[in-house]
Parts: sequence; C-alpha cells; structure tokens
Amino acid sequence: MALTINSRVQSIESSGIRKISNLLTNYPDAINLTIGQPDFPTPERIKEAGCTAIVTNKTVYSHNAGLLELRQAVSNFFTNKYDFTYDPQTEIIVTTGASEAMDTVFRTIIEEGDEVILPAPIYAGYEPLITLAGAKPIYLDTTTTDFIPNPAQLEQLITPKTKAVVFNYPSNPTGATIPRETMDQLAELLSKHDIFIISDEIYSENIFEGEHHSFAHYPQLKNKLFLIHGLSKSHSMTGWRIGFLLTATEWMQQAAKVHGYNTICASVPSQYAAICALTECEHTPADMNPDYIRRRNYIYNRLTNMGLPTVKPNGAFYMFPSIKQFNMTSEQLALTLLNEAGVAVVPGSAFTSYGEGYIRISYAYAFDQLEIAMNRLEHWITNWRNQERHIVPDPPLV
Ligand SMILES: Cc1ncc(COP(=O)(O)O)c(C=O)c1O
Repeated sequence: MALTINSRVQSIESSGIRKISNLLTNYPDAINLTIGQPDFPTPERIKEAGCTAIVTNKTVYSHNAGLLELRQAVSNFFTNKYDFTYDPQTEIIVTTGASEAMDTVFRTIIEEGDEVILPAPIYAGYEPLITLAGAKPIYLDTTTTDFIPNPAQLEQLITPKTKAVVFNYPSNPTGATIPRETMDQLAELLSKHDIFIISDEIYSENIFEGEHHSFAHYPQLKNKLFLIHGLSKSHSMTGWRIGFLLTATEWMQQAAKVHGYNTICASVPSQYAAICALTECEHTPADMNPDYIRRRNYIYNRLTNMGLPTVKPNGAFYMFPSIKQFNMTSEQLALTLLNEAGVAVVPGSAFTSYGEGYIRISYAYAFDQLEIAMNRLEHWITNWRNQERHIVPDPPLV
C-alpha cells in the first residue's frame, strides 16, 4: 500500500506571513517590515528569572496546567487590571504560546462538519487549525466596516452548524479594536446562541487610545468563552513560548486533556520567567507603548500622504493599507517592493482571501528603519505613478 499523508494536512499551506521574509537572505539591503514581534529585548529581570530557574534545577516537568504560582499570577493580573476572575486551580492553563492554546481549543470543541466564523482579514494561525480539526471556516467580511465585526452581519452567518466564533482584537493584521458599544452588541447577540467564543487577546496590552475591552468582561458569556492570552507581545517574550488559556471549569477539564497529551506542560524555566513578568514587570507594555504610538502616527501620516488609504489602527503594531490602486495582487506587489524598493512587507492575502488588496506593515522596528522604509516606499510609488506603469510581475513565490 502506498504511503499517504493526511489529506487535511495536504490541503493546508505554510503560513504566507513568512513567504516574503524567507526571501530576505537574497536581499541583504532590504528593510524588513514583515515580522510581528517587538523589537525590544526581553526585560533583564525576566531573563534573570529564567536563568535562575535553570541554575537551580527548575528544569523538570510542572503540573500539566502549569505552575500554580504562575496560574495565580495570571489570575491576579486579570482581576487587578480587568476586573474579571478566573480560578487558578480549575480555569487557567499555561500553554506553549498562544498558538498551542488555539490548537488545544479547536481540537477540544470541533467535530467533523462544524463551522467556525472568522472576522476577516484575520491572523493566519486559525484557519489551518480549524481545517485540520475538521471544521469549515466561514468568513465575516470586515473590509467594509473598518475591520470591525458588524453584529448584524455576524448574525446572518450563524447556522445550526456554527460551533464557534473567533475574535482577535486588537487585531493582527489590521490593528483594529472593537468599540465598547459594538462589544456590547456582540455580547448581547452571542449570549443568545449556543456558540463558543474564542477570543485571542494577545495584543490587549498594546492599545493606544481608550481601554481594552475583553469578552471576559461579560458574565453572560463566561460559560461559552475561551480566552487566549500570552506574554509573547506584551513582554517581548516570543521565544519563551508562554501562553494562557482561560475558560470555565467544565470546558477546561476537557481542554486540559488535549493540552497534556500534546505537550505535558509549558517550558518550566519559561514559566518562572513568566511569573517574574506578571509580578515584577507589569509596566513593561506601558513602557513600550509610547514608542509604538510614535511609530504608528508616523507611518500612518506617511502612508496617507502617499495616497494609500489606511484605517488608523488603535492597537497591536501593524498597519494594513489598501494597495488596490496598483492593479497587482498583494503578493505581486510585495515581491515588487522587495525587488525594486528594498522594502519587505507581508501580502494581505496571507490573512485569508479577504486580505487581498492590502499589505501588512509591521512597525515593531526601530524608528530610523521605518523612516528609510517609508522614504523608499514613497520613492517607488512616485516613480510608479510617473511611469503610469501597470506591468504585473510574475512571482511565483514558493
Ligand atoms: C493574533 C496572534 N495570536 C497568536 C500569536 C502567536 O502567539 P504565541 O507566540 O504566543 O504563540 C500571534 C503571533 O503573531 C498573533 O499575532
């Protein structure tokens, strides 16, 4: 019998977020604006806590759910900052990044034939996991509503097959946040349906105007919410691989099984570093945000002056301008910008087909790099307009 691979695995593609950055070794002078990780180092105290854990032999498995001290710190963080409570004993697990939390949730709840609604464009990490788990992604188009999910449009997509709705606000790739009034309407709508809510709020600490509103604020949603969080973005800890999954005890008992068989527990030295992050470095995100705001304002003004329509983002560290005027696909434009302008961006199509017609610019880069990149971009656009050039390059990217 011929060897075969799972057909669902064959049907998914590697993340389009890396397609352009993987080419960068051939373009040593290009400015890379593709990566979604803070350019700040992990704070010293957190690094020391991780090192101390290693030196003192905290290098063995922890409880499957994670160190109780860390779960307690996670619980305290949400209670103190956001005024909602999850029980560290039964409602919180520590995961290997938010990524594992997502996979754990989808595999815990999804059955063959289910539908999962995604407001799109959306982070590329969900769709393949939903497909692998056997469900069908259903998209809520947010391109006409400033990338904010419209409750009435969402309601129209709900069918008896709908198992869950995924939210990621502040959003990767758009930087959009959901206004309080819309959150209230979404909560009201979702409280009436037997549908799980999966809310990835990993960018909650990177918000620039107003306050973050979590789906966990709504007590009527508590028994259907999976809240996903982590320290990758807030504390510049992408490589430490620490995420958090919070949900009602009933669901957590099931999710904990999936998590335990997947990974046993999150990296233990990293868990000690995470305790330090939450108990001693609460101010780290607030220390970073003024830089992000300065960069956001700068990029937004530059793009607007270049004539690229852009919704001003209120969180995360991404900008998602429309590039429809160039009559190229987002992948063709990203490749052209890399070749001709020396600027690497992510094609919007990496964030579902609803991202076609946009590019994602990450501004988690030093200001001087952003300045050079914007100058190059402007120069390229001016040339393009002067030449009225409409030649479409033929990638194909692999
Ligand atoms: C929306 C979103 N969720 C989750 C992740 C992955 O988080 P982690 O590093 O904790 O796995 C990312 C990474 O870019 C992201 O943008």
